This record gives sequence, structure tokens and C-alpha cells, in this order.
Amino acid sequence: MSEAKRLAGEKAIDYVEDGMIVGVGTGSTVAFFIDALAKVKERIAGAVSSSEQSTQRLRAHGIEVLDLNATGPLSLYVDGADECDPHKRLIKGGGAALTREKIIAEASAKFVCIIDPAKRVDVLGKFPLPVEVIPMARSLVAREILALTRAQPVWRQDAEGRGVVTDNGNGILDIHGLAITDPVALESALNQIPGVVSVGLFARRPADVVIVGGEPPQVL
Ligand code: A5P
Repeated sequence: MSEAKRLAGEKAIDYVEDGMIVGVGTGSTVAFFIDALAKVKERIAGAVSSSEQSTQRLRAHGIEVLDLNATGPLSLYVDGADECDPHKRLIKGGGAALTREKIIAEASAKFVCIIDPAKRVDVLGKFPLPVEVIPMARSLVAREILALTRAQPVWRQDAEGRGVVTDNGNGILDIHGLAITDPVALESALNQIPGVVSVGLFARRPADVVIVGGEPPQVL
């Protein structure tokens, strides 16, 4: 599958134009995109990064990482996904970077999503839906999610049983057992719960282009 991720990441370079500041997502597919971006780094004006992980990789390649507050709107955002439906609506956040990813997607004119074929689904929800929560609200939010969806929120923990902490200092609840028939409505309802920072559903702002890695890559 990493070959498919590499092919998708490299294909996304087609969307990079001279002088651009490129929005960069997070994850193993994006890592291939960053490596490909390094080969054309003289053509771009820098990057805005969605995570400490991507920032490190960009800087290791000598690509300048800029603050979104200083750049204004971006032309292009490239990121992976955990699931993608036929309407280019996504589940993201498997790498816990959903909030910054959502911010950069919103700030960008074009969102190019790079995935391997296994990420394509008819209905979103088999992949547990990540929700970033303010730490003190975790139990409250979990109860409200259960009441709203009848699906099970699970506090994301690492192998040692410690709660995963996002780059923003918050926790993650993963909602298991969903079949999301109305992603826009669910995104909106979950966003209303006090203590929710963001929801890993990208339905209100779906991808504009999806590149499915393969030989050759498929552009949707
Ligand atoms: C990071 O929080 C996620 O949204 C990633 O974009 C998603 O998990 C895809 O990751 P991979 O490219 O590693 O499959």
C-alpha cells in the first residue's frame, strides 16, 4: 500500500505552481508528497504545516514553514485521509492532526486529497471518527456523543495507556460503529457540543480533487 501512497503523493506535485505557499497535511501519504515537494522547493515560496511531524520533515528538506496568520489565504492544500466517499467527503484525524488540517483546508482555495485505494468507501464511518476535545470536557462530550449517535466514543490512548495529546494539548475521542448517512448534519451536530474543538469529518468542506494512488494514479 505504501507504493500506492507514494504514487498519489508524487502525482499531487502536478498542482504545485511557481511561487505558491503550499498547505501541507499530515500522515504517511503526505510524507511522500513532502519528499516530492523537496525536489521542486526552489519553485515554491514555502509551506504552511498541519502538524509538528510534517513541520520537522519539511524543515529537514530545507523548506521554510510559515505561519498561516502571516500568509493569508492559500491556493493549495494537500493532505491524506482515512476514508473518502464518492462525494469526496472525508474522515480524517487518524494521526490526531485533524484540527490544524481543518483550519488549513478552510483557508485554501483547492484541497487535493491523496489516498491509497483502500481508503475509498461508499458510506463513511467504518474508520472510527476522531473528535478533538478539551481535556476537562472529555467525559461530558463522550456522554453527549453516545446520546446523539448511539455509537461508542473511545478515548484514544497510546500503547502505555496514556491519553493521546494533540499538538494543541487536547484529547481525542474516536467514535466507533457509525454509518454516516448525512455527514454534513453529523459534522454540524457534533460541532455544537461544548468542549468539542473539531470533528474529523470533512463534509461541509470536502476535497476538491482526490488522487487515488496506482499505476497510473486516478484523479477524481
Ligand atoms: C492525520 O491526522 C490524518 O488526517 C491523515 O491525513 C490520515 O490519517 C491519513 O494518513 P495516512 O496517509 O498515513 O494513511
